[in-house]
Amino acid sequence: TAPLSVAIAGLGTVGAGVLSVLRANAELIAARAGRPIIVTAVSARDRGRDRGVPLDGLRWYDDPVAMAREAEADVVVELIGGSDGPARALVEAALAAGRPVVTANKALLALRGAELARQAEEAGAALAYEAAVAGGIPAIKALREGLAANRISRVTGILNGTCNYILTCMREQKREFGDVLAEAQKLGYAEADPSFDIDGVDAAHKLAILAALAFGRPVEFGAVHVEGIRNITATDIALAEELGYRIKLLGIAEAGEGGVAARVHPCMVPVSHPIAVVDGVYNAVVAEGDFVGRVVLEGRGAGAGPTASAVVADLIDIARGRHTPVWGAAAASLSSVPSRPMESH
Ligand code: NDP
Ligand code: HSE
Repeated sequence: TAPLSVAIAGLGTVGAGVLSVLRANAELIAARAGRPIIVTAVSARDRGRDRGVPLDGLRWYDDPVAMAREAEADVVVELIGGSDGPARALVEAALAAGRPVVTANKALLALRGAELARQAEEAGAALAYEAAVAGGIPAIKALREGLAANRISRVTGILNGTCNYILTCMREQKREFGDVLAEAQKLGYAEADPSFDIDGVDAAHKLAILAALAFGRPVEFGAVHVEGIRNITATDIALAEELGYRIKLLGIAEAGEGGVAARVHPCMVPVSHPIAVVDGVYNAVVAEGDFVGRVVLEGRGAGAGPTASAVVADLIDIARGRHTPVWGAAAASLSSVPSRPMESH
């Protein structure tokens, strides 16, 4: 069978990670995909930068949009980031050319998911985004496929690895907020603009995607409460600990008679709750379904390996021809997520 050829836009933490995974596990990936998955083209800004992975034989494009349109590739992978600019342009160009797209870009999906979903459906091309929510946790697959028989009443989660890493290191190692944030940036966990992490916006983007999938209906995003961890002090963390609680930044979405309520804010979680002990860069997604009950998924929520694992899972699905369509009606709810936190509440 012919290989699945792939063009990758963005060779930072995640893009280089995808090249590494495809290289290290090429044989088993080919077996599971039913054919080899090979990268044929790449795009980034700096041609001279050492990415820690060989790029020999790959066609280099300075312009990722031109690559999405012209490269000899069956699939385009978008790993640049941002809800506009080249990321949006290249995804639109790929879909317009009828090419399937894999992306880890939750900001783009949260703000433009509805239009992109429509475009993908019209083009008959897959738009796959497992890596956009909770890094290596297969949360999208779990909600869309594994829990498909259930009415979901509530989705809760630790959805930002950077914040969970900061809160954990402040508690366990008594380190300063800024010092741990700098480390999270070095480790490749944080967004290009880390205020998206620490102000709760990144978690809100992910919650928006999960809520649309879980409830299949519009979410009142104008009423979303988005609050980050900037104001959490070492004293808050120590006092919570004394009382038997851990402070976690949670995303919570609930379906009620009046619609879906979604919020992101720091919470006191009793240490007896399974997500209280999810520490470091780990994320958790908790879904409550009417027949299955509570399902808790835990795993690394950021970083090269976990995120690349999810991107490659989408590529394997596409190689197998088993990628399901995007969101349908639920996508409509994604267009109105704010890109910045709401003003004070
Ligand atoms: P990085 O900042 O590490 O990498 C971004 C890449 O995009 C770089 O290679 C950069 O090129 C390239 N780039 C930027 N602008 C352009 C442009 N105009 N043309 C071509 N290339 C461009 O980001 P990450 O890898 O961390 O994140 C990528 C995406 O994945 C984002 O959407 C992010 O939100 C998402 N994500 C990230 C996770 C993580 O843990 N890091 C986890 C889950 C999702 P150059 O290297 O030359 O500067
Ligand atoms: N900056 C994000 C986080 C990356 O820390 O969770 C994973 O989406």
